[in-house]
Amino acid sequence: MMLKGRKIVLGVTGGIAAYKVAELVRELVKAGAEVQVVMTRNAQAFITPLTFQTLSGNPVTTELFNLIAESEIGHIALADRAEVLVIAPATANIIGKIAGGIADDLLTTIVMATKAPVLLAPAMNVHMWENPICQENIQKLRQRGYHFIDPEAGELACGYEGKGRLAETPTIVEEICVLLSPKDFSGEKILVTAGPTEELIDPVRFLSNRSSGKMGFALARAARRRGAEVTLISGPTALAALPQIKYIAVRSAAQMREAVLKHLESASILIMAAAVSDYRPKQKAPEKIKKSKLPTVLELELNPDILAEAGKKKNSRIMVGFAAETENLLQSTWQKLEKKNLDLIVANDVTLPGAGFEVDTNIVKILDRSGKVEELPLMTKEDLADYILDRIALLKKS
Ligand code: CTP
Repeated sequence: MMLKGRKIVLGVTGGIAAYKVAELVRELVKAGAEVQVVMTRNAQAFITPLTFQTLSGNPVTTELFNLIAESEIGHIALADRAEVLVIAPATANIIGKIAGGIADDLLTTIVMATKAPVLLAPAMNVHMWENPICQENIQKLRQRGYHFIDPEAGELACGYEGKGRLAETPTIVEEICVLLSPKDFSGEKILVTAGPTEELIDPVRFLSNRSSGKMGFALARAARRRGAEVTLISGPTALAALPQIKYIAVRSAAQMREAVLKHLESASILIMAAAVSDYRPKQKAPEKIKKSKLPTVLELELNPDILAEAGKKKNSRIMVGFAAETENLLQSTWQKLEKKNLDLIVANDVTLPGAGFEVDTNIVKILDRSGKVEELPLMTKEDLADYILDRIALLKKS
């Protein structure tokens, strides 16, 4: 897991959204991070240190000159140990103080002293957010390399409608992951496909493959975390959109083919994780076919093999495919690697428990052009995505 053992110092300031940060701490701790919460005096008017202490499993610090706390972990030690410093919610006040170079309490002193990246998630009344002084401060801090997650628009606790709500927990977690990731794919343009395709029989019926899209989405997310510019072309899935990733929604294999070929030109890496339907109905009825008229035998025609077609335009690109097999896994996977002109192919035996569709884990073998087979243990799709990128990073170097 990407957050396992990572040291996060989380500053909580005095806004009503402070209660939402309890959930953030829970999520980070669940993902294995070591979270150290620092609260301002005003934050304690909204939520108690005991809540964060219980959720984080670590003492919560609040005072700069608290003799006991300072002797256990001083403010400089906190600033030094942080791999990332997150401030959520960040009030207009803390933003102004940091921008003005003020360090008059524990949190602002840590901000001043840390060398770690600082991520601020502002939350405030819409008029405070729009106040030019606040915006100027944000602008100034951005220029100095501070990172921000903009608040979301919606109903605010103060009764107003507008921009000012603290970003959702998954959005904040994702930005923390981005800041903690190496940027070994910066400058790369990665094209990822995901999900199934749907081949219409009539406007309401279709042929499809079993695929949740989770593997492709995990690859897109990991590539973006590692600095790549990512385009994700996906068939229909139930997954939430990913921030900072260009998303192209398609349905049929023909649409996926068109989108892949269009974006291949500018891509340096192609990863085809989509479960493309091999066949489509020969005829697509313009209207819904009545039950009484439905044929008992469907005539099918072959869909284009998108990856094989892309493989012909490989040039210096790195190309990775997937193979879902239920028998003769290795033999048939080697053939696919050859036929589609791939650098790597990730094969999974979808009959194994913990592998394949809908689950969050996978058990795969990675085959490469040089003839090497690597058997990987059961791992999460998130970890596998990073592992596949590690393998691609090695190919980039060679
Ligand atoms: N693929 C593709 N276009 C297709 C079918 C598959 O681009 N029409 C891609 C998939 O995204 C995957 C790889 O090719 O990366 C392997 O797909 P698979 O269906 O296992 O390969 P097939 O060549 O169809 O082999 P099989 O005979 O086992 O179905």
